[in-house]
Amino acid sequence: MTDRYAVIGNPVAHSRSPWIHAEFARATGQAIEYGQIEAPLDGFARAVEEFRASGGKGLNVTLPFKEEAFRYCADSSSRARAAEAVNTLVLERAAPYGDNTDGAGLVRDLEANLGFSLGGKRVLLAGAGGAARGVVEPLLAAGAARLVVANRTATKARALAARFAGVHGCGYDGLAGEAFELVVNATSAGLSNEAPALPRSVFRDGCLAYDMLYGRDTPFLAMARAAGARASDGLGMLVEQAAESFLVWRGVRPDTAPVLAKLRGR
Ligand code: ATR
Repeated sequence: MTDRYAVIGNPVAHSRSPWIHAEFARATGQAIEYGQIEAPLDGFARAVEEFRASGGKGLNVTLPFKEEAFRYCADSSSRARAAEAVNTLVLERAAPYGDNTDGAGLVRDLEANLGFSLGGKRVLLAGAGGAARGVVEPLLAAGAARLVVANRTATKARALAARFAGVHGCGYDGLAGEAFELVVNATSAGLSNEAPALPRSVFRDGCLAYDMLYGRDTPFLAMARAAGARASDGLGMLVEQAAESFLVWRGVRPDTAPVLAKLRGR
């Protein structure tokens, strides 16, 4: 029987994961099926259990269930524990196992696709919600020399930073005068066509500005470009986190370049 996987979320109809995993399966010759499950907001665990009972091997978890998925798992990877969130469920073991490939996806997009080596770099992370929490440890592990977490609500940035040695947390007004080589937008401001109120001085000339959102040119990216930064959306992160999940499930890392090129319409 073909091994079955799916993405679970609410809403989930817009998800590109089924298409991406179908491309990976074809390219690697892996016989898998990958669907989508829209779970009711109060029905995550039930939906996972039904899928597992029907033979499902693994799930990607998207909004708003990543934190619930972490609590649901009996066992999880160190990167899932650092993020306190799970985006990849392995259902083939005796108990559900949780992993988180989001941060690895960001680091790989930065380093392998965008040619930005994190070693020794000064990095600003805007936002202190789930998306930010998922990438702090992987950015540190990749060798960032300084990591500042800044958020509209400064107390949340300080609380997130306090969980990691050497990470500084502040409000946007605490950034005056400091420039960074990489600025990552992990806020959801772009969804409402807004930008986090960062001072222009954070963008050193030629720095890389990265918005974890994809499929739109956000006000953050426009602001960064106007300040002389190179700008990238988060489509590469989406494809790379999917490839990392595929590796966790299948033991094979798919080539992401052709998939990313197709998604970009090139
Ligand atoms: P996610 O899981 O996507 O990170 P979240 O946990 O709701 O979602 O966090 C949303 C993040 O985007 C927060 O850092 C939020 O800032 P606050 O903590 O101050 O609310 C940030 N955010 C959302 N809209 C924003 C805006 N218009 N400007 C600046 N930051 C914004």
